[in-house]
Amino acid sequence: MDKTIKPIERLHGQIDLPGDKSISHRVVFIGGISGGNTSASNFLTAEDSLRTVSAFRDMGIDIEIKDKNIMIAGKGLKGLRKPDKELYLGNSGTTMRILPGILAGQNFEATLTGDESLSKRPMDRIIEPLRKMGVDIHSKNEKGFPPLVIKGGIIKPVEYATRVASAQVKSCILFAGLYAKNVTSVTEPFISRDHTERMLKFCGAKISRKHLTVSIEGKAELDGKKFFIPGDISAAAFFIAGACILEGSDITIRNIGLNATRTGFLDAIIKMGADVSIKKRTENPPEPYGDIRVRFRKLKSIVVEEKDIPLLIDEVPVLAVLASLAEGRTVIKGTGELRVKETDRIFSITENLKRMGVDIRAEDGNLIINGRKKRFAKAALNSFKDHRTAMSAAVAALYADGDCRIKDIECINTSFPEFFDILDYLK
Ligand code: S3P
Repeated sequence: MDKTIKPIERLHGQIDLPGDKSISHRVVFIGGISGGNTSASNFLTAEDSLRTVSAFRDMGIDIEIKDKNIMIAGKGLKGLRKPDKELYLGNSGTTMRILPGILAGQNFEATLTGDESLSKRPMDRIIEPLRKMGVDIHSKNEKGFPPLVIKGGIIKPVEYATRVASAQVKSCILFAGLYAKNVTSVTEPFISRDHTERMLKFCGAKISRKHLTVSIEGKAELDGKKFFIPGDISAAAFFIAGACILEGSDITIRNIGLNATRTGFLDAIIKMGADVSIKKRTENPPEPYGDIRVRFRKLKSIVVEEKDIPLLIDEVPVLAVLASLAEGRTVIKGTGELRVKETDRIFSITENLKRMGVDIRAEDGNLIINGRKKRFAKAALNSFKDHRTAMSAAVAALYADGDCRIKDIECINTSFPEFFDILDYLK
């Protein structure tokens, strides 16, 4: 399905957003293997998080969802049962990369499959550490892409250094570490989002961090808990970006996750001069959250360093939109991981923004953008079937000099089915 976006004047109003996608997945991962009932409010009911729900249901876990409340009847660390079919995970890289850590400790074999995009995403990054832990896991093709076949069993602890900073890889190893005797540790090159660590600790796991190394003690049963899932900062980023480019905008987004390993986008735009204020901040474990108010102010360019990329990895496409209108030359360094997301996001960003008249190029793993002084040129845009590319294109189109048509917009349902309703509300 295609959609035409008309330019608008400004965004204004107050909104709440659906729950954070990363936290919603983890509520199900943890709830499904904890020793009691887990419940959460503001659960994200989008395609991706519902893939994790159906995988756990297929493995015998009772999960009830009413409105945005979820209830999971955990059956303990080893309580999953063999699914009677392959587990289809759609577009969800988070499920494909983290679930194997849990399956590593079960007593059965399972096959995980995904859609066309997920079937081209690298899985060797979890296959290698899991094999070091003694897990029988392989990809059904030579390239290390899904489908994955995993047979759980006895697991050895490992001390593993990841090549890339990836919360998915780190989480997979930490979950597997729950099933190993003694201590398993993961060291990353740069810090990535730490929801797994916070949430496992909240549920009673013995887990600690020293610099870039996280260690977990195996064999501790998890407690069922009650969670509030803060609004998704990655979803908020699209409206925040809209408010930054449309003169006269003034929006407030309530109860948004403010975990420091996720707020790299806010830090970046504040450096660019954005008018951002945070109110009602709460620090209660496991996750901090608060209200974010953003008012229009003209932005200037910045340099984003490689170490900061994991803190805003999903926001690079929309940050590129902002950089396209900022004064000066923005350089976003170390963007290699963007090449292996739901689509090659370096290609999708540069392609769409070039069509809109932006001077943008990808060079040696860096993205270089020269800000323009006028509205985007109206253009035919493409989501490349990637939700974040689609929403970034939609935000840019709000400040174009005419109508823009975006191809294949339905991929937005992967993470944010309410996106256009909320956008309409803010107009
Ligand atoms: C996620 C981690 C990130 C992010 C993805 C969700 C998670 O991926 O891009 O959207 O929930 O752990 P990587 O860990 O591969 O960078």
